[in-house]
Amino acid sequence: MDDSLHLQPFLAQLACQAGKLALSMQSQLQEGDVSCKATVRDIVTAADQATERFIRQAVEKRFPHHRFYGEETGRSQDNGNPYCWIVDPIDGTVSYYEGQLYWCTSIALWKDGKPLAGAVYAPALDELYYGEAGKGAFCNGRPIHVRSHGSLEQSVLSTGFSCLRAGWTEGNNVPFFAQIGLHCRGVRRFGSAAMDICYVACGKSDGFWELNLQPYDYAAAMVVLLEAGGQVTDLRGGGEYPRQGILATNGAIHQEMLRFFPNYSRLRD
Ligand code: IPD
Ligand code: CA
Ligand code: CA
Repeated sequence: MDDSLHLQPFLAQLACQAGKLALSMQSQLQEGDVSCKATVRDIVTAADQATERFIRQAVEKRFPHHRFYGEETGRSQDNGNPYCWIVDPIDGTVSYYEGQLYWCTSIALWKDGKPLAGAVYAPALDELYYGEAGKGAFCNGRPIHVRSHGSLEQSVLSTGFSCLRAGWTEGNNVPFFAQIGLHCRGVRRFGSAAMDICYVACGKSDGFWELNLQPYDYAAAMVVLLEAGGQVTDLRGGGEYPRQGILATNGAIHQEMLRFFPNYSRLRD
């Protein structure tokens, strides 16, 4: 544990400030503030960029020797420091752009490749999730825990389809979605992987899976979920996430969920 870093106040305040900055820009966005990444289906807004710059400046001021990896500004030079900040300024950009509720700012600190602390703030819902290794998980300051029911039939799950946006015509999530949907109470598609995982952590759902995520999509929410008693593996039950997909559950349904992905192997780079 790294008590000397006093992470909680810094991370929680930074996630809230950054999320509120993004929220304040939402209604002001003009057409010229939106551009495309790899394809026209993959957008980034001026708010994604401004929010990440705001977070990066604050982190670099407070922890100048730590490494940084953000979706919009990329990786800092590898200086060998064990600490790395992993940031998604807006997870759920499409929802954000469309004025919907499920998007968040996600800030994680990992040490030696392992999750140490994470804050996820959803401004439109005013929900702040925080987790720190060995110290528990919280939503707006109240302790949270996964729910323990182990029946898939009674479970509510969520997933995402970044594989479709990336053009995976084969080996994508559609057949898994169709199959799993037959065996649970419902499958939600909220549009933010970080929120999906935080919902498992606080017992509003039981599990989440996706095939094509990046570390910044789950780095913070994963700390929250693990501290809330949940479980995270790849789709084969091992540790090769996100490359071999990711499965994040309440723990109780984990083995049953894994049965839907027998010998899963990613087809595309
Ligand atoms: C996306 C969201 C979405 C998931 C996509 C991610 P972004 O993040 O987490 O739920 O399905 O794979 O890319 O692009 O809005 O930061
Ligand atoms: Ca994301
Ligand atoms: Ca993003």
